[in-house]
Amino acid sequence: MRGMTNAIVVQGLVKRFGAQTALDGVDLTVAEGTVLGLLGPNGAGKTTVVRILSTLLEPDAGRAEVVGLDVVRQAGEVRASIGLTGQYAAVDEYLTGQENLEMVGRLYRLGKRESRSRAAQLLERFELTDAARRPAKTYSGGMRRRLDIAASLIARPRVLFLDEPTTGLDPRSRLGMWEFIADLVSDGTTILLTTQYLEEADRLADRMVVIDHGRVIARGTADDLKAQVGGERLELTVGSVEELARAADALRSLALDEPRCDEQTRRLTLPVTGGAATLAEALRRLESTGATVLDVGLRRPDLDDVFLTLTGHAADDERAGAPSDDDAADRTPATAGGALR
Ligand SMILES: Nc1ncnc2c1ncn2[C@@H]1O[C@H](COP(=O)(O)OP(=O)(O)OP(=O)(O)O)[C@@H](O)[C@H]1O
Ligand SMILES: [Mg+2]
Repeated sequence: MRGMTNAIVVQGLVKRFGAQTALDGVDLTVAEGTVLGLLGPNGAGKTTVVRILSTLLEPDAGRAEVVGLDVVRQAGEVRASIGLTGQYAAVDEYLTGQENLEMVGRLYRLGKRESRSRAAQLLERFELTDAARRPAKTYSGGMRRRLDIAASLIARPRVLFLDEPTTGLDPRSRLGMWEFIADLVSDGTTILLTTQYLEEADRLADRMVVIDHGRVIARGTADDLKAQVGGERLELTVGSVEELARAADALRSLALDEPRCDEQTRRLTLPVTGGAATLAEALRRLESTGATVLDVGLRRPDLDDVFLTLTGHAADDERAGAPSDDDAADRTPATAGGALR
């Protein structure tokens, strides 16, 4: 039943690369049938968590279980239960879409017929049927990404790891991907998703864990995290600097804290509660001051505000550049495949 047991349990996970501590004691759980969004700036340790949970890397300390199986001692069984879509697409350029999926099916020991029908089914679902007979090297970035995710679903995994599943997709493809992911969840799949798109986490994740420098710095629902950085704000722009002062005087008693005035932009910002009723009251008061209101709105903190507050920098600062050699491990389906080793 949804949320009754944990599909993923991580305790005190530590991973070092030489002198560098990539994970410094990470704890997290993911309830069965739910989505956990793992967020954090570049280099925070997200991919390292995913690689340990998908058995591609061994931790230096701590433990992790996926569907009740230890990722180190029962790595083979873990691999048979999971799907992984790495941060960089794991697609064989010279094989067609159909062949790519059939190959992965065979790696999972699905049998020829089953591999073929599962491949066709997934190509259809990811809108790749028309391109099924073309080599993957002719695919666009979005098509490769879809093929890659299709490959991770071949063996109907109970737990799916998606490392930045929509990075590099255009907005329409991203929306499509969100729908696919939502469908998987409604079918009961447990998902751990890393992303730098906070809107994506907001949309898809039941709970979020934010890491930075290998440590968990916040966790909870999107609302919990937003509440941590503060409540709603009334923001308005008036016609002149004198009006700014008058507006501030009129609205001061509605604010939880001293209104902030920016004379340059003639913008007034005040922390408030009460939502639309407060907005209506503010507009009545402004009208009585005779000030020209050019723009007014109620703003709630979004996850971008959360991220900025927690980590001191925006989510999409210094986006990752080219993949390093080490990421090659994520690129071969064989490594992620369940039946190998
Ligand atoms: N194989 C490796 N050898 C050495 N250092 C590594 C290795 N893999 C990861 N690291 C380091 O560990 C830290 C965490 O890296 P990781 O790839 O987990 O971050 P991330 O949160 O996925 O970042 P991004 O958002 O850029 O994908 C980084 O400082 C990285 O340089
Ligand atoms: Mg990463």
